[in-house]
Amino acid sequence: MQICRDRQAMRDWRHQGSPVVLVPTMGALHDGHLSLVARARDWLERQGGGRVVTSIFVNPTQFGPNEDLATYPRDEENDLALLRQAGCDAVFLPTVADIYRPGAQTVVEVTGLSRMLMGRLRPGHFRGVATVVTKLFNIVRPDAATFGEKDYQQLAVIRQMVADLDVPVQILAVPTVREADGLAMSSRNRRLSPAEHAAAPVLNRALDRAQQMIAQGAGLSAVRAELRRIIGAEPLAHIRSIDIRDAVDLSRIATIQRPVVILLAVRFGDVLLIDQRVAQPK
Ligand code: PAJ
Repeated sequence: MQICRDRQAMRDWRHQGSPVVLVPTMGALHDGHLSLVARARDWLERQGGGRVVTSIFVNPTQFGPNEDLATYPRDEENDLALLRQAGCDAVFLPTVADIYRPGAQTVVEVTGLSRMLMGRLRPGHFRGVATVVTKLFNIVRPDAATFGEKDYQQLAVIRQMVADLDVPVQILAVPTVREADGLAMSSRNRRLSPAEHAAAPVLNRALDRAQQMIAQGAGLSAVRAELRRIIGAEPLAHIRSIDIRDAVDLSRIATIQRPVVILLAVRFGDVLLIDQRVAQPK
């Protein structure tokens, strides 16, 4: 596995051949990230071969002033071992100075999607994501890139950005990987206390129930009330937001007629967890 520590090393590796799939991450890797690598491999196999590169870059521009940039978990040695085992061909590990050079003035912002939902809770977050992903795409020039459905709004932002700017990268969406108890894997889970960790699978249980209700024809307010009831019954869970939106463009809906996505943001201690589920009406 080739380790590229700056843009030039990355470009040199890229020039050795196509196709290439990029797996953008911020490190602290877990099985969710590794399923993105597996998806990349699958896609390449169908193309008749190719190479996977994972980027590890804790992107400062997507963290707000009161967020966890300084304490974001970093574990390079373990990340590299996991990627080797997963059959990744290269890792791109740029420094902040290599990605953000002084005097830069340009950002990429998906104006509508970035300002709703999590974008309201985290102003500037999706601008930071869209900008760094554009830069990674331009440095690596991948044929395809993988993103997790776990960060559903992020996936929608990236799809919109790629469509709006004619970016020649195919976006591959990957379903959420969960622990045995249903908790969606996240690098933030390691900041949960044992009691919070034991409580957090309530999100998946609530989503299962809501999905089932929608499949049986339940209406918006009944589903919302049931989500609040199930999550509200867990004393360690503090609901920040519960939204049911159009699954494609995340617009508000009045009734459930097309596929919807249920988006949860719930705090346990000082850790904000997000989870999501796409549900189809009857
Ligand atoms: P990070 O949080 O490290 O996540 C990297 C990728 O892994 C994202 O596409 C995310 O949706 C996916 N992922 C995380 N947990 C997952 C799980 N349990 N199952 C499936 N996929 C999962 O998201 C980012 O980094 C950054 O915003 C980034 C896109 C790299 C830009 O900086």
